[in-house]
Amino acid sequence: MLHVLKHPLITHKLTQMRKKETGTKDFRQNLDEIGGLMVYEITRNLPVQPVTIETPVATCETFELKKEVILVPILRAGLGMVSGICNLVPTVKVAHIGLYRDEETLEPHPYFEKYPKQMPEATVIIVDPMLATGGSANAAIDMVKRQGAKDIRLVCLVGAPEGVAAVEKQHPEIDIYLAALDEKLNEKGYIIPGLGDAGDRIFGTK
Ligand code: PRP
Ligand code: URA
Repeated sequence: MLHVLKHPLITHKLTQMRKKETGTKDFRQNLDEIGGLMVYEITRNLPVQPVTIETPVATCETFELKKEVILVPILRAGLGMVSGICNLVPTVKVAHIGLYRDEETLEPHPYFEKYPKQMPEATVIIVDPMLATGGSANAAIDMVKRQGAKDIRLVCLVGAPEGVAAVEKQHPEIDIYLAALDEKLNEKGYIIPGLGDAGDRIFGTK
């Protein structure tokens, strides 16, 4: 199911990122901050379990998180969303998936993967700022499923309808979270209006 997280602060920060004159430092900072703002909604239905604790003055029946949370950034651009989320969920473990999109065919090519051992029982959150054709997201979901992951969420900043449809078709049970659903892809597979090449803008390459 698709969830578009509408919030004035997210919209304002995303607008700064979209501007072509925004430089690497501000682009990175806004991405980091949006990651932090999105995490509240993404984690809203995390399972909790009852615990009994002692406060300084009494016994208290309360709850704490039941499962590990594993963040899975898709390299490179997904790295830009890691620290904002880690700041709010400090116990999070971080897996890595390396994928690059062939500029001609737009097909994803895996080049790296590394996971903690708790993948089958954890809540797995895949992060990547851009959901364009959906090829990279679908490949990443396939990869975490091969590690046994069952509770999987996909979190992107900007999505195209084509990418959302591709993920919904291949992995219909996955919740997809976006800060904005844009209009379309252009002939080169870039999101319109989008924000350009997220990896290049985060890392100052090109
Ligand atoms: C970008 C982006 C996504 C992918 C989206 O990464 O960060 O991973 O393209 O496109 P898709 O939905 O059509 O697969 P890219 O492959 O350019 O690598 P980078 O992060 O290293 O820049
Ligand atoms: N990858 C990006 O970084 N930007 C797009 O618009 C599409 C794919």
